[in-house]
Amino acid sequence: MKIVFSGIQPSGDLHIGNYIGAIKQWLELQKKPDHKLIFSVVDLHAITVYQEPEVLSKKIFEIAAIYLSCGVDPKKSIVFVQSANPDHTYCAWVLNCVTNFGWLTRMTQFKDKARKQGEAKTTAGLFNYPVLMAADILLYDTDLVPVGDDQVQHVELTRDIAKKFNQTYKPIFKLPKVLVKKDSARIMSLQDPLSKMSKSDPDARSRINLIDDDDAVAEKIKKAVTDSGAEIVFDPKSKPAISNLLSIYSELADKPISKLEELYRGKTYSQFKSDLTEVVLSIIRPIREAYFEYCNNKDYLAYVLNSGLEKAIEISNNKVSQINSAVGLGL
Ligand code: AMP
Ligand code: TRP
Repeated sequence: MKIVFSGIQPSGDLHIGNYIGAIKQWLELQKKPDHKLIFSVVDLHAITVYQEPEVLSKKIFEIAAIYLSCGVDPKKSIVFVQSANPDHTYCAWVLNCVTNFGWLTRMTQFKDKARKQGEAKTTAGLFNYPVLMAADILLYDTDLVPVGDDQVQHVELTRDIAKKFNQTYKPIFKLPKVLVKKDSARIMSLQDPLSKMSKSDPDARSRINLIDDDDAVAEKIKKAVTDSGAEIVFDPKSKPAISNLLSIYSELADKPISKLEELYRGKTYSQFKSDLTEVVLSIIRPIREAYFEYCNNKDYLAYVLNSGLEKAIEISNNKVSQINSAVGLGL
């Protein structure tokens, strides 16, 4: 039995980068026998950067609705909201106490975010964020963590934290492995192919959201930047924009990039973009339709999240007992 854990922050609308980098891998793992999957809406991670309270509480439900709309099946997978299970922050505190300060200062995501937002806005929560992520993963004896490539360093840190705890106290934590797609772990912005497609990019044209309507998708792909020269070939160094569009096409149509290069030899960017639009729409139309249905059925969503929470707590409580007895905490 392999245990899979992953999560996404409710800090904005999910886009095709999230789908290709994370959710698509979740769906592939969900098809496999002998895999137990746990997916969390990681709201405590989201507040490491300020979120409007009313927006956050809506987003938590919306992200859960998107998980289900993409095909996460609550009969096979546990879906729950991180903050509803207090074991996560409890475990994170204990792990903070075995995590070297220097390890956290080397996290590239922290350094990037801290530089972008400035010292006045950078909180201890943002600094400790990877330790909370380690708690998420280690509480469930996770084997596999399917994520996009920006999270690889955090999963490596999780292994270091687990090793340090196991050596300091008792070997109670399993060491997880990261799962990343090779060529498509990082989908880039449609407006700047050198930076990652991101929920927080102020330019909405930089990303295609999973709930964008048909016109928005067509417009964003039409306006997507391209490279000089007319050939449609995959070469991220000299042709980053078209290479990114080829990755998106290849992942969503399940066709190898080499096949696409062959198919579009001698064709124009505009023909390619119009086919890409159809490919993107064939994936996101059904997601969007299911999403609006789930959003109109809050009772069902609440039922899924509550029953997921019960199952999650059953597993994590057991790990907290092991932590307490290993460290000598509690009564
Ligand atoms: P976030 O949007 O930061 O909460 O990320 C949620 C998941 O989507 C994580 O596994 C990320 O690694 C993945 N992800 C986010 N943006 C991208 C992207 N542009 N390309 C590929 N994966 C991504
Ligand atoms: N930090 C991850 C991100 O921003 C989200 C996350 C939190 C996560 N806890 C996790 C991913 C545990 C995988 C496993 O994308």
